[in-house]
Amino acid sequence: MTNSMVMNQKKRILSGITPSGSSLHIGNYFGAVKPQIELQDNPEYQTYYFVADLHALTTVQDQTQLEENIKQVVLDYLGLGLDPAKCIFFRQSQVPAHAQLAVILGNYISYGQMKRMHAFKDKLQKGVEVESVNMGLFNYPILMASDILIYKPFGVPVGEDQRQHVELARDVAENFNRTYKTELLPLPEPLISKEKGKIVGTDGRRKMSKSLGNTIGIFEDYDLIEKQIMGCYTDPNRVKATDPGKVAGNPVFIYHDLINQNQAEMADLKKRYLLGQVGDVEVKQKLILAHKQFFAQARAKRQELVQQPDQVVAILADGAKRAQAVASQTLREVMEQVGLIN
Ligand code: TYM
Repeated sequence: MTNSMVMNQKKRILSGITPSGSSLHIGNYFGAVKPQIELQDNPEYQTYYFVADLHALTTVQDQTQLEENIKQVVLDYLGLGLDPAKCIFFRQSQVPAHAQLAVILGNYISYGQMKRMHAFKDKLQKGVEVESVNMGLFNYPILMASDILIYKPFGVPVGEDQRQHVELARDVAENFNRTYKTELLPLPEPLISKEKGKIVGTDGRRKMSKSLGNTIGIFEDYDLIEKQIMGCYTDPNRVKATDPGKVAGNPVFIYHDLINQNQAEMADLKKRYLLGQVGDVEVKQKLILAHKQFFAQARAKRQELVQQPDQVVAILADGAKRAQAVASQTLREVMEQVGLIN
């Protein structure tokens, strides 16, 4: 059996990240990137991961900024452990079949369904006039459905905030299949962690998100990361370090549980916190140290890659070529099915 035959038998996994900000945060990492890396290491799957640069145009409309964001997110993703020897890693815009399929798929979803999508509704809630919402943002879920369906993946590992998008992709596929009495587009499964699919932000209330300014970074200077951690919300009812505190649901301890690999230290901190025998400052300082340890390898790897821009370009070019081979095959099948090839 040839290698490609073995590869073809593997179930596919697909996911992506939008370079809308310049760098990834720990919510991205624990909610999405870490599970993606675990799947890349599982020989049952063939994994496709990409930087959704076309999607970023909905909010980033400055050439220099977009180029910079893409570069940073590519480095972050590789630094965190995407391994081009194991997964297919590429930029969305370098695989034109995504955009081509999106034009076709828009015909299998209604305006009513699109209007109910969160990203669009959130914009309106923020007071943006419906008339001024750009069509890239409105159509975003169709392009995302195309990103997914074009690889006929078994699963899509993402955070909870992307569930609705994966469900829309399923609706598009179902409608397409029903229309043509075919099973050409398999329905993808959202792969979302129950515990880590929605990491809370440092405000202790909302999902960690760049646009809300409640993140803890991964690759930023430690001056900034320290500020982010020291400014983190804890137990609002605890006034003095000698007041007994709450551990459950306390963001600082949620982050400790994710990052701190020293179990004994964590157990001790939690015990003392509950009894009012430790101050927030000490808990946060220990979190900073744990962060430094946890991400040291990723930061070193990323730093190495910064010195090898040609290698990064080559990784993306190779990934795009391999992704395009699969994507153009699906595109062709869809075009044939709808009657565009004769
Ligand atoms: P994006 O770039 O906003 O986020 C990247 C991934 O990080 C997850 N995530 C979180 N998980 C847990 N807790 C959080 N606080 C948190 N914040 C972000 C997101 O759920 C996501 O998995 N539309 C997508 C990119 C995309 C895509 C695709 C994904 C485009 N096409 C096709 C999968 C399949 C996005 O903007 O994710």
